[in-house]
Amino acid sequence: MKKLILFVAVAFFFLGASAQKFDKLAKTPPMGWNSWNKYHCDVSETLIMGMADAMVSSGMKDAGYEYVVIDDCWQVSRDENGEIVVDKDRFPHGMKYVADYVHSKGLKFGIYSCAGTLTCQRRPGGFGHEYQDARTYARWGVDYLKYDWCNSSTQDAKSSYTNMRNALYTAGRPIVFSLCEWGANKPWEWAGEVGHLWRTTGDISDSWNSMINIFTQQKDLARYAGPGRWNDPDMLEIGNGGMTTEEYKTHFSLWCMLASPLMAGNDLLNMTPETKAILMNKEVIAINQDTLGRQSTCYRDNGDYQIWIKALSNNEKAVCLLNKSDEKKTVLVDFTLLAQVRTGGRGFGGFGGPGAPAAPGTAGRTGTAGAPGTAGGTGAAAAAGAPGAPGGPGAVGAAGQRGGAPLTLDNYRVRDLWEHKDLVLKETSMYVDLLPHTVKVYRFIKK
Ligand code: GLA
Repeated sequence: MKKLILFVAVAFFFLGASAQKFDKLAKTPPMGWNSWNKYHCDVSETLIMGMADAMVSSGMKDAGYEYVVIDDCWQVSRDENGEIVVDKDRFPHGMKYVADYVHSKGLKFGIYSCAGTLTCQRRPGGFGHEYQDARTYARWGVDYLKYDWCNSSTQDAKSSYTNMRNALYTAGRPIVFSLCEWGANKPWEWAGEVGHLWRTTGDISDSWNSMINIFTQQKDLARYAGPGRWNDPDMLEIGNGGMTTEEYKTHFSLWCMLASPLMAGNDLLNMTPETKAILMNKEVIAINQDTLGRQSTCYRDNGDYQIWIKALSNNEKAVCLLNKSDEKKTVLVDFTLLAQVRTGGRGFGGFGGPGAPAAPGTAGRTGTAGAPGTAGGTGAAAAAGAPGAPGGPGAVGAAGQRGGAPLTLDNYRVRDLWEHKDLVLKETSMYVDLLPHTVKVYRFIKK
């Protein structure tokens, strides 16, 4: 008997001591749908189950979207035992019923709560109920928890989120843990051990300015991302009506380059062909889901015109040309030099990590429409990493790629991932037109 007690005590000690996050989850950025951006508090089982149906019938599931997540407002109070109470009018069959339905479609189920005393919509938060709620979520069959930061008063962010992480681990059901603390306490510096993704900014809204501002704030965060630990620049607005189709393509491309979680936030039952073509562009999604798990870094920053590069597995790479300005730009792109840019590096983020700051935009001006002949300053220099930026990511290493012989353009074909066509490169450099607020996304594919 004594031995048994000792064994149980030791087992408890190790169980407690080894609380951690579930480390086999979210090895590539999570993909799914979340109710907030479009529906706010107007959530119900009809809506959620309808979206699960639409996820399958629209082809979103086949494209890789998996989690169906109910955001704020599903909860109304706590009962006399402190158990969270679901809104009975909106979820008459309870949450397990919804979770079971989502699972029956081959999808995963996510829910929202908050580390503070109340959620952002003043519903009961998780503070003081972490272990109880974690057990409830496990019982319901929750696979993903988004955990917000409203009404957290003087709580310490790292300990609050770690407490919930431990509660989830103890409850025993593997749950992706999504921290939503808006970047206030630099979660990228500590959340890799706590959760699988963490918001880096305040909320996105459905406008070009909001989207591109959030994108700009991701620039120095690449080193912190990797399999199982993602910077989260917030959910997608594609299909919600506030941006043009071209701007939504840019939004999607940039989020894919950033290895961001891809949580659609639109009405999946009523998608235009344009919205579908964006959200289900499998070639662009493949950039996001690449198993190397690198976040793109800015290779060349000429202000309104930028070149971003994302290292992919097998020494492949994605290159994104971005025109942030309100004017058309014509840029000369040197594919030979882009082929040689090194994308190696160890750990999270690879090049562009500590000690390798982004090369400043020292290259010449960007070409303007109608004057491609004057654009010489941009193209080759921009793609090469101009003089004056030695050692940064712009530095072209003939021996840049990791392992084996240096790779050149001869080793690759270059594919335009929105045109769905390989480029026919008559010369190794080419003038490319970029309309306002647009991107080009190329994949260098090993021959
Ligand atoms: C915060 C979050 C949003 C959303 C709302 C819900 O603002 O950042 O993503 O979850 O709360 O109230």
